[in-house]
Amino acid sequence: MSLLEPAGASLLELEGVSRVYSGRRGLLGRRVPVRAVDHVSLTVAPGRTLGIVGESGCGKSTTGRLALGLEAPDQGQVRFAGQPIPPPGGAEWRRLRARMQLVYQDPLGALDRRLTIATQIAEPLAIHAIGTPADRRDRVAALLGDVGLRADLGGRYPHELSGGQRQRAVLARALATDPALLVCDEPVSALDVSIQAQVVNMLTDLQDSRGIAMLFISHDLKVVRQVSHQVAVMYLGRVVEQGDPEAIFATPAHPYSRALVSAIPTPRSSLGPRGRERIVLTGDPPNPANRPAGCAFHPRCPLAIAACRAEAPELRPADGGRLVACHLVHPPSGSFA
Ligand SMILES: Nc1ncnc2c1ncn2[C@@H]1O[C@H](COP(=O)(O)OP(=O)(O)OP(=O)(O)O)[C@@H](O)[C@H]1O
Ligand code: SF4
Ligand SMILES: [Mg+2]
Repeated sequence: MSLLEPAGASLLELEGVSRVYSGRRGLLGRRVPVRAVDHVSLTVAPGRTLGIVGESGCGKSTTGRLALGLEAPDQGQVRFAGQPIPPPGGAEWRRLRARMQLVYQDPLGALDRRLTIATQIAEPLAIHAIGTPADRRDRVAALLGDVGLRADLGGRYPHELSGGQRQRAVLARALATDPALLVCDEPVSALDVSIQAQVVNMLTDLQDSRGIAMLFISHDLKVVRQVSHQVAVMYLGRVVEQGDPEAIFATPAHPYSRALVSAIPTPRSSLGPRGRERIVLTGDPPNPANRPAGCAFHPRCPLAIAACRAEAPELRPADGGRLVACHLVHPPSGSFA
């Protein structure tokens, strides 16, 4: 259970969850394990949004798949509404999937080119045997309206819609079974900037009116700040800072969060928000198949001390009700420095 949510308040709970892939073969022909997600504990309360940010490869999508039970963790447990998620693929899991849906970056890939939009929005209703054919037609019409699509667009095929319209159709399909949780993995990254804002506003409106919880994964920190009630910053498979988005974006405590926040584009290109200078990270990009000892961020951290190479910092409570994993925030008990 995350320290940030009161007991019993969570819809989704990841507790000490890890996922290790076998990875590519190394020089000696042995597979090098890739620890994509490493002891992650997160919670999402009903009707709330947890944003996940971090560089490419830090484990965001894997966390999303674990949350949905699309993959089983190698360690730890994922619970939905207080119950462990059953193994993927079984009947029990399929029933649960009606209550948790995935929306990802590529709406064209998510839709079947050979079927009309209306048929695809009705698909989850048919799969879960919800309503009569007439009920489903009514439901599809209502869903098209909910996501801002004209009723006649239901008769079109995916390639006959714009990118924004296709993502709205994907959302309508995700909403068909009245899910309690949406995992949105880069849901607007493939859209034009002007369309992104419309789709994000629609998502937050739908969340307010339906009380849906969201796991919102994105590279775009501005969007994450706009939609999230909680934010988790990930680095090499671990959460390094977690808490209220306003606090994290205004005064990031972890050196990696500081670098991410300083890179949010502002009209003054060389300066980050509030006139902070942009922190450019040097050193090798993170590689989960070769995790540095101690704090995994130490080869790139401008503030690293000797202890950082020897001991991995734990994620612990810090000022402003947040959790931070950094020796500068929680000095280690030993005398490494
Ligand atoms: N099925 C898989 N088999 C082997 N390695 C995998 C698999 N899926 C993910 N990985 C590895 O796990 C790590 C985390 O991947 P993941 O897709 O979760 O990152 P991400 O944060 O979503 O990245 P991006 O921002 O690029 O989408 C990466 O190193 C990736 O190469
Ligand atoms: S523990 Fe050390 S290396 Fe890691 S973020 Fe903090 S100061 Fe930097
Ligand atoms: Mg991803």
